[in-house]
Amino acid sequence: MSGPLLRVEDLHIALKTEAATYNAVEKVSFEIGRGEAFGLVGESGCGKSITALSVMGLLRRPLSLSGGRIILDNEEIQDASVAEWRRLRGKRIAMIFQEPMTALNPLSPVGRQIAEMFVLHQGANWNEAMDRAEDALRQVQVPSPERRIKDFPHQLSGGMRQRVMIAIALACSPELLIADEPTTALDVTVQAEIIDLMAELCAAKGTAILMISHDLGLVANMCRRVAVMYAGRIVEQQDADAIFAAPRHPYTQGLINSLPRLGERSRRGRQRLQEITGVVPSIAGYPSGCRFNPRCAAVTDICRSVSPEITPLPADGLVRCHHHG
Ligand SMILES: Nc1ncnc2c1ncn2[C@@H]1O[C@H](COP(=O)(O)OP(=O)(O)O)[C@@H](O)[C@H]1O
Ligand SMILES: [Mg+2]
Repeated sequence: MSGPLLRVEDLHIALKTEAATYNAVEKVSFEIGRGEAFGLVGESGCGKSITALSVMGLLRRPLSLSGGRIILDNEEIQDASVAEWRRLRGKRIAMIFQEPMTALNPLSPVGRQIAEMFVLHQGANWNEAMDRAEDALRQVQVPSPERRIKDFPHQLSGGMRQRVMIAIALACSPELLIADEPTTALDVTVQAEIIDLMAELCAAKGTAILMISHDLGLVANMCRRVAVMYAGRIVEQQDADAIFAAPRHPYTQGLINSLPRLGERSRRGRQRLQEITGVVPSIAGYPSGCRFNPRCAAVTDICRSVSPEITPLPADGLVRCHHHG
């Protein structure tokens, strides 16, 4: 088959309040190839999760899709019916969230929740589905899966719960896995294990990943191409190595500067990170011109009044900054 697996084209998400309608996400476009790991990075509040939810058909009021197309395997899905979305989710696109406790049913043993995927999407009978659930738990390296399938979510650690979520997400071998801050709630050591596991399983199954995180280091490690999002817009997109070697947007530079650096920690005894000053503006308070301008060290007059256009960069990259040179 030709074409990318997923094409998000000119996506707009509206936030309707009593006072006004705002563009929560504006002109967001990206493509993910079959089996490719693509990263979406930005601070909290930049619009990453609602972008992901729109690809899952899960936007709910007060948010709605107000423009653009979502194309899965050459087929437009943004206007799919409730029933069509239900068929797509789990089977072709699956998602794991930051907090598995909210996604898991607290009253149902985890084995049953995995087995449900096989029953629902593949017409398996329950006996067969429970066997396959045990295999799925083994695949995500949960110890003693034959016992663990009977556990309820609260009996498992955070890391184990996220493994269960991965098992559920990958049960029906979806073409795309959306991982939205999948390790943010976990200990650092567990984080790395979960990321490695996810990357390994997806590589083995040929599953594409949309990896979403506020952590540029984590995303760049896992993904070949990375998009940086700020206040509802993609402000830069490049190959992961190029992002670090030659970041073109001051916001990207800020994200890099705020990453802990190896070595510095040991010398100083304590990490001193260079945080980006200021905060992500709220949707109702997006500044005019470049939305990053109030926090930008390189700001000039034009940045305050004119919204920067997209400038293409080599290798399908792009930057949205008046001073990108
Ligand atoms: N249900 C909602 N109602 C109103 N505003 C929302 C809702 N969900 C998200 N938002 C707003 O949309 C913006 C983007 O949110 P989100 O996609 O969750 O950001 P991120 O995932 O990058 O942290 C934020 O300003 C957030 O406050
Ligand atoms: Mg989020």
